[in-house]
Amino acid sequence: MKALVYGGPGIKSWTDVPDPVIQSPTDVIVRLDTTTICGTDLHILKGDVPAVTPGRILGHEGVGKITEVGSSVTNLKVGDRVIISCIKSCGSCVNCKMGLYSHCLGGEGASGIGWVFGHLIDGTQAEYVRVPYAENSLYKLPASVTDEEGVMLSDIFPTGFEIGVQYGGVKPGDVVAVIGAGPVGLAAIATAGLYGAAKIIAIDLDANRLEKSREFGATDTVLSGTASWKKEVMALTDGAGVDVAIEAVGVPTTFTMATEIVRPGGHVANVGVHGKEVPLHLESLWIQNIFISMGLVNTNTTPMLLKLIESKKLPAHKMVTHRFKFDQFIEAYDTFGRAAETKALKVAISR
Ligand SMILES: NC(=O)c1ccc[n+]([C@@H]2O[C@H](COP(=O)([O-])OP(=O)(O)OC[C@H]3O[C@@H](n4cnc5c(N)ncnc54)[C@H](O)[C@@H]3O)[C@@H](O)[C@H]2O)c1
Ligand SMILES: [Zn+2]
Ligand SMILES: [Zn+2]
Repeated sequence: MKALVYGGPGIKSWTDVPDPVIQSPTDVIVRLDTTTICGTDLHILKGDVPAVTPGRILGHEGVGKITEVGSSVTNLKVGDRVIISCIKSCGSCVNCKMGLYSHCLGGEGASGIGWVFGHLIDGTQAEYVRVPYAENSLYKLPASVTDEEGVMLSDIFPTGFEIGVQYGGVKPGDVVAVIGAGPVGLAAIATAGLYGAAKIIAIDLDANRLEKSREFGATDTVLSGTASWKKEVMALTDGAGVDVAIEAVGVPTTFTMATEIVRPGGHVANVGVHGKEVPLHLESLWIQNIFISMGLVNTNTTPMLLKLIESKKLPAHKMVTHRFKFDQFIEAYDTFGRAAETKALKVAISR
């Protein structure tokens, strides 16, 4: 088969590799129909994730059909159309039992690390992929949900919802600010509405992304990078700050921004993946009664989010801006890698 193979920092190719095979009775093989690229894949290609070694097939998002099932798999069969979750879950360890799939203790890849696809085991940017713990890590896709909508449930929607909205404790009447209107921030914006947020303020440096955020439910937008950004955000609150500030960028500045606009008693939900040391000013925050949360997505809300997409309550289809075929994988990376110029949000790569 062909797959997108990491060759070390800065090196990737769409090339021939052996077909995956069932290695454990709980595995299935999925023939990918649609996959996509995540910002994390760009980090890997820069060499920022040393656990990814040359030869690894990248990708942790995808939709496809099952072509083979392991001997102990009972609730999935050949031909089933499924969403591949970015997180493995054995379903039986103590963390999986708590819904903390991101820390699944199953030995596949590494015990205690849920994100294994395109990281510690071969991923989904391929014609076929082996899915471990398939009964818990795959979700059957109803016929009315498109491949492109389904792929947005592998990572983006559960991340924005679980780590942004749920961890942030959004409740009816809240003023919510989302810093970073990339795919993850837009998913947080779209799902913050589910809990009855009164206002959802999108904050970004990119005017195009802010415009897009309104399609996902942002009620107000603020262009950051201007001297007045904070004043503009405060003017949209009762003057005391936002109830929930969701950080969806992953750089020190935006985390600090979140702590500067949150009201006393409010929540800062950090979703961004940080590669650098981030200052936390407890000397000024301690007296503000702030809750701060962070984490890796569990994807345990996927079935619920899937129902909402099925009933057209979440605009997942608006996330895809560019479409490619498998043999255009390198072009897809190029377009996604120059998102500021190409206005790419999510690229769909299909068979
Ligand atoms: N916690 C998790 O489980 C998890 C899972 C997936 C992704 N993530 C992380 O979520 C973050 C967002 O992912 P994405 O795919 O949406 O990223 P993205 O890079 O596509 O989007 C980031 C957005 O932030 C904006 N931005 C950059 N600097 C800014 C600044 N100083 N002020 C305001 N806006 C700024 C950019 O213009 C862009 O629109 C990343 O850090 C990603 O690694 C976390
Ligand atoms: Zn991802
Ligand atoms: Zn587990």
